[in-house]
Amino acid sequence: MEKISEHLFKYKNFNFLVGHTTPEHIDFLESFEIRDSDAFLVTYPKSGTVWAQQIIISIYEQYGHPNECSTNIERMPWLEYKTAEYTLLPSPRLFASHLPEYLMPPAVKEKKIKVVYVMRNPKDNMVSFYHFSKALADLETPKSFEQFFEWYMTGHVLASSWFDHIREWHSSRDQYDILFLTYEDMIMDLKGVVKKLCIFLGKNLTEAAIDQVVEKSKFATMKNDSKANYEHFPPEQFSGKFLRKGQIGDWKNTLTVAQSERVDQVLQEKLGDLSLKFIWE
Ligand code: A3P
Repeated sequence: MEKISEHLFKYKNFNFLVGHTTPEHIDFLESFEIRDSDAFLVTYPKSGTVWAQQIIISIYEQYGHPNECSTNIERMPWLEYKTAEYTLLPSPRLFASHLPEYLMPPAVKEKKIKVVYVMRNPKDNMVSFYHFSKALADLETPKSFEQFFEWYMTGHVLASSWFDHIREWHSSRDQYDILFLTYEDMIMDLKGVVKKLCIFLGKNLTEAAIDQVVEKSKFATMKNDSKANYEHFPPEQFSGKFLRKGQIGDWKNTLTVAQSERVDQVLQEKLGDLSLKFIWE
């Protein structure tokens, strides 16, 4: 373990939040017992995790698994942060995670457990991450967007490099039972994404139940849903909005032309060989 700043430590080549997890817990995940009914949501931070969490929890609810927890974090806890005794949680368990592919419990791959991976275009992702870093006390506050841009491009942030996260998960996809979604798909066709998720998760819902999931997962509904919007965090810990803008293309208000071109160039260098398509506006 290497402490790389006041807020971050590196373990097994991945950046974690100081005070939220330990190398022992990450090691424990290597032998974490997986159940066939488990499902995982994996994202790089600020890619629409809380949104996908709400959709998946609502699908399970409509399928007869009511969410009796007081918050979505409790219903679908973060695998890498030990917020409960995970071995004691009732089935079907749902987990969220920002872990890279190589730190996932190997049984997820071996037992072909359902994994939903949500990806967001890196320009909107970094702008969202920038605002989040200013709002969350547990993250280092950037002095300017310019400074945050450098941290992001060099992976000096929570969850390390976006580019590595995408590459590792994407290139291992054949070994998993995985559904790749994008934040942009969710914005452009929420109902289509909900239907895709129902099929992937094996939850056959009626049209009316699907409509209820869609309704519960709209930006405006989630803003007023205290289970979903994480706004129960005390203000000294989080001083912004988890549901900030919820748009595609907000990056244009923040990135300079030179910064945008640098992202394009690095994207080409690092991920150009993958068949990824991004929606930028
Ligand atoms: P912005 O900061 O661009 O608004 P994560 O949950 O991975 O931290 O991602 C947070 C981003 O998802 C934020 O983006 C947030 O507004 C957006 N988001 C959350 N719920 C959403 C919804 N129902 N519709 C659209 N965007 C949503």
